[in-house]
Amino acid sequence: MNEDVRARYLTLQEIAAAAKRNLAPGPWSYLIGGTETETTVRRNRYALDTIGFRPRVLRDMRRVEVGGELFGARVRLPVLLAPVGGVESFVDGGAAAAARASAAFNVPQMLSSVCQPGLEATAAAADNLRIFQLYVRGDAAWVDDHVRRAKEHGYRAFCLTVDSAMYSRRERDLAGRFVKPWRADAAAGMQFQSALSWDEVKRYKDHHDLPLILKGIATAEDAEIAVAHGVDVVYVSNHGGRQLDHALGSAAVLPEVVKAVAGRAQVWIDGGFMRGTDVVKGIALGARCVGLGRLACLGLAADGVAGLVRALEILEEEVRICLGLLGAASFEELTPAHLAAAPAVSDPGALSAFPLI
Ligand SMILES: Cc1cc2nc3c(=O)[nH]c(=O)nc-3n(C[C@H](O)[C@H](O)[C@H](O)COP(=O)(O)O)c2cc1C
Repeated sequence: MNEDVRARYLTLQEIAAAAKRNLAPGPWSYLIGGTETETTVRRNRYALDTIGFRPRVLRDMRRVEVGGELFGARVRLPVLLAPVGGVESFVDGGAAAAARASAAFNVPQMLSSVCQPGLEATAAAADNLRIFQLYVRGDAAWVDDHVRRAKEHGYRAFCLTVDSAMYSRRERDLAGRFVKPWRADAAAGMQFQSALSWDEVKRYKDHHDLPLILKGIATAEDAEIAVAHGVDVVYVSNHGGRQLDHALGSAAVLPEVVKAVAGRAQVWIDGGFMRGTDVVKGIALGARCVGLGRLACLGLAADGVAGLVRALEILEEEVRICLGLLGAASFEELTPAHLAAAPAVSDPGALSAFPLI
């Protein structure tokens, strides 16, 4: 990495501030906004803010390992770049830039089916650990064609986003009359997504061997059904508060899902994770991997590929310090006993993890 970029950003707050400076009001509101009252957005942060740490001391923390493992590959941090439709409105090159940062830092990228430059060109942009996420906009043959192309282009898993039977009302976008250039394409065929049921999950598992991730599980009941269908990863998410308003905070839902899954599948999570301490909380609660939506976009918007890599470097440093101060030499040593319920001390919001901006 260019030393200028290291010197330019010493904190994640500086990256978030640069992103805000660089983006026009429309894309900025699209990035940070949520549905209607944005209660779900705030609850994601609130759920994390109301977890406190119980540190253990005197445990020789000279070496602290922060890496993880996903699909048999070592990753530098147990995080993934969450799928972001229209990511090209934050950075030149769109998903190809995210792919390059994912390769440079060695964390997985989940590519959204509604962003540029698309499945094939993004795969060609970097030799990274990649996963494909699909919004269903066609029939079974249409889905199968995407699975085939994803497999052919080295995607290691396939993800169906299941929290999007309806497209929600994002009031910042509506109020700003922000016209998303990709929206007309993304809306065509929406009835196929609305029609999704567990039958499609069964059909997928009967026909395909690419591991299946369901993104947007938010209850123990659905986690149980997912496991019964042989789903490989139960991804706890409320879409960053961009779909159902007044949902529960993701981190608040995680314990019931981890309990229901009981080790029969991996559990991943996203929603409001902005800091190293947040990542540590997610993993301590039983997630294998934490998705970064807005944070990854802030990095890209601040300084392209280098900005995202720098954001990940700072996040890594925060994780290392947090683990060391908790007395855990690796994620394996973390347990729920490192956590306790605690009162929140600030108003939660999409950017409340960055009080200086
Ligand atoms: C600008 C933006 C676009 C998104 N587009 C998609 C998408 O195409 N597919 C999807 O499954 N989730 C999408 N999401 C949701 C993210 O994958 C992720 O669940 C969410 O951002 C996590 O919350 P966080 O932003 O607080 O980290 C999007 C999120 C944002 C911020």
